[in-house]
Amino acid sequence: MKEVNVALIGYGFMGKAHSHSYSTVANIFPDCPRPRMKVICGRDRTGAEVMARRFGWESVETSWEKVLERKDVHAVDLSVPGHLHHTLAVAAAQAGKHILCEKPLANTAAEAKEMLEAVERAKVVHGIVFNYRCVPAIMLARQLIEEGRLGKIYHFRARYLQDWIVDPKFPRVWRLDKSQAGSGALGDLGAHIVDLCRYLVGEVVEVTALLHTFIKERPLPEADQGAWGSVSGEGLGPVTVDDTALFLGRMACGAVANFEVTRLALGRKNYNAFEINGSRGSLVFNLERMNELEFYSQDDTPDARGFRNIMVTEGAHHAFISGWWPPGHTIGYEHTHTHVIYEFLKAIAAGKSPVPNFEDGYRCNLVLDAVERSSASGKWEKV
Ligand SMILES: NC(=O)c1ccc[n+]([C@@H]2O[C@H](COP(=O)([O-])OP(=O)(O)OC[C@H]3O[C@@H](n4cnc5c(N)ncnc54)[C@H](O)[C@@H]3O)[C@@H](O)[C@H]2O)c1
Repeated sequence: MKEVNVALIGYGFMGKAHSHSYSTVANIFPDCPRPRMKVICGRDRTGAEVMARRFGWESVETSWEKVLERKDVHAVDLSVPGHLHHTLAVAAAQAGKHILCEKPLANTAAEAKEMLEAVERAKVVHGIVFNYRCVPAIMLARQLIEEGRLGKIYHFRARYLQDWIVDPKFPRVWRLDKSQAGSGALGDLGAHIVDLCRYLVGEVVEVTALLHTFIKERPLPEADQGAWGSVSGEGLGPVTVDDTALFLGRMACGAVANFEVTRLALGRKNYNAFEINGSRGSLVFNLERMNELEFYSQDDTPDARGFRNIMVTEGAHHAFISGWWPPGHTIGYEHTHTHVIYEFLKAIAAGKSPVPNFEDGYRCNLVLDAVERSSASGKWEKV
């Protein structure tokens, strides 16, 4: 399969990131089937047309149903708010389309399960955009853990902090409305670090959690303009999701995990950071310095022990880098999406879903559901 005809639904933040990736991926990775950017879909025709012109989409639709009816579309990319993932993914599977879905897979684990069943029944290729799995430094972290270089894992400690809703006048956009977003910082940021925990250390089996909302009302947005750059309109609306989520987890491997997510940590812009401690070593990662991985090894001679900073930009040794630049010529946020899309397109050609896929999305949703249950019950909850 030399070409894959793609439809993108949603042209906001992720629509832009994915459009960028579709337009470059096959130039950077010559073994990638070339995506033909067939159609971009959004509710506002003018907005969709602007994006089509900017990124080279061949046509525009305002109805996702029409997109799914098109015979010339092989794969759909769902870059829309969470409440639409279930309906669109089930319909896309029934229409025989391969699906790449943004995270979290769904707003509840029950929805996620139905989505997984739908893609399995339809035998279509399915992937989920847990793009941080495609950061070469995080892939190196997993390799070191798999090689036993950390020994037995004791701690997984993750924080994902942002600050973009700290102003109480920031409007109540869709991400602050439970009926659309499912949850707040939990589903938005927590989904990523729960997935990284699963990817690096394994399954979380039990959680205890605290969800909290500091700012309970916000100005209603003037129009639904997506999260960033929104303008306040008239009146106030309730915030029905968490501003912050803190939770502890017991893990199947015997490790313990702790997680903290918030969008009210002033000064933290996209601070997605973890530390892992094992019996023979530790790892530290922070997305704001995403080309680097810190590694402490007990195997070093005692006089030279200390955290070393590995620059993860060697094409000969580090995943995905050979497609990009020489050592030390760093990559950035957009590359993570290009790597996800590269894997998805190759998977379509191979006829086998990539990892992570809807199964991983469902398992992540199970953890998020348990976190919400625990915060409500005040008890440990099984995943
Ligand atoms: N992987 C990541 O790092 C990452 C980052 C941000 C967002 N996301 C996820 O991506 C998804 C979209 O988030 P975003 O930040 O791009 O949001 P956004 O608000 O910027 O864009 C959402 C888009 O969906 C469109 N849309 C809404 N309803 C629609 C409908 N009925 N039919 C067609 N289009 C419709 C909107 O017009 C808009 O273009 C969410 O699931 C979010 O959690 C993932």
